[in-house]
Amino acid sequence: MKNILITGSNGQLGQSIQKEYQNLLNKEQFNFFFKDSAELDITDTKSVIEDFQKNKYQYCINCAAYTAVDQAEIEKEKALAINAEAVSNLAEVCKANQTILIHISTDFVFSGIKPFPYKETAKTQPAGIYGETKLKGEQIIQQHLSRYFILRTSWLYSEFGNNFLKTMLRLGQEREELSVVFDQVGTPTYARDLAQVILKIIITNSNDFGLYHYSNEGVASWYDFAIAIFEKKNITCNVKSILSEEYPTLAKRPAFSVLDKQKVKAVFSLEIPYWQKSLKNCIDKL
Ligand SMILES: NC(=O)c1ccc[n+]([C@@H]2O[C@H](COP(=O)([O-])OP(=O)(O)OC[C@H]3O[C@@H](n4cnc5c(N)ncnc54)[C@H](OP(=O)(O)O)[C@@H]3O)[C@@H](O)[C@H]2O)c1
Repeated sequence: MKNILITGSNGQLGQSIQKEYQNLLNKEQFNFFFKDSAELDITDTKSVIEDFQKNKYQYCINCAAYTAVDQAEIEKEKALAINAEAVSNLAEVCKANQTILIHISTDFVFSGIKPFPYKETAKTQPAGIYGETKLKGEQIIQQHLSRYFILRTSWLYSEFGNNFLKTMLRLGQEREELSVVFDQVGTPTYARDLAQVILKIIITNSNDFGLYHYSNEGVASWYDFAIAIFEKKNITCNVKSILSEEYPTLAKRPAFSVLDKQKVKAVFSLEIPYWQKSLKNCIDKL
């Protein structure tokens, strides 16, 4: 029996893992401990140490994060505490307990200046505090641990929590016209697809530790993403394409953050779904 901790289990990825876990055929082989921020605050080192000592986890899937990209520009300390300092504690506790850490990171570690898909080896250069703190978290894990998986992903959405898909569905019902930026390009990623990859790593007992890029296949701008959402839901809201400079935000976002997924596909024998296909799957589940 493998004991598996999921931190931040009430976030969209945490909830997506809970859903996918329910569909597992051999789930009696696993003992999943889904813990939200109230049950286990990852910044509370003492609680984390006690929890690990009590439950003897083989895996820790860290879905806990400070994800408010713009607010992070104002709350730098808080973002740092959750995305880097708490990750440092988690990594130390994982090491002491021989727990494998599966950690999630982001395309926001890149500047987005280079218009080619980013490999795991590409130079990192975050444009804002959120990306900076997430990058620190990655670096700390790599310094402390050898048995870790870091999965960088992008533009996560799901039927759970707050995300671009749900915002568009709400605004599309309320308004006749919306303006959406078309000069930021990346790949939307259905959190359930990422959850399946995480479970595959655990089920297959993978020893291929390291850093990986995972998103859905294909490329889109936020404008394309919005159009696809409205088409799939038959919403008649008119979408106007605008430049990022016409929609100022506190945090600068990468203009191009498409992730190169060759490594993850080869190592885990994955066929990654095209983003529009996954979007339809998610919308069907809403
Ligand atoms: N969302 C995206 O577009 C995106 C893109 C790329 C990468 N990622 C990464 O993917 C991962 C999952 O993201 P997500 O979209 O699922 O995020 P999310 O929906 O914002 O969930 C994050 C969860 O972390 C919890 N949390 C915050 N501080 C905590 C703490 N101190 N202790 C324990 N839990 C805490 C939050 O709980 P409370 O709500 O109770 O605070 C929340 O449930 C994150 O690492 C994120 O950086 C996300």
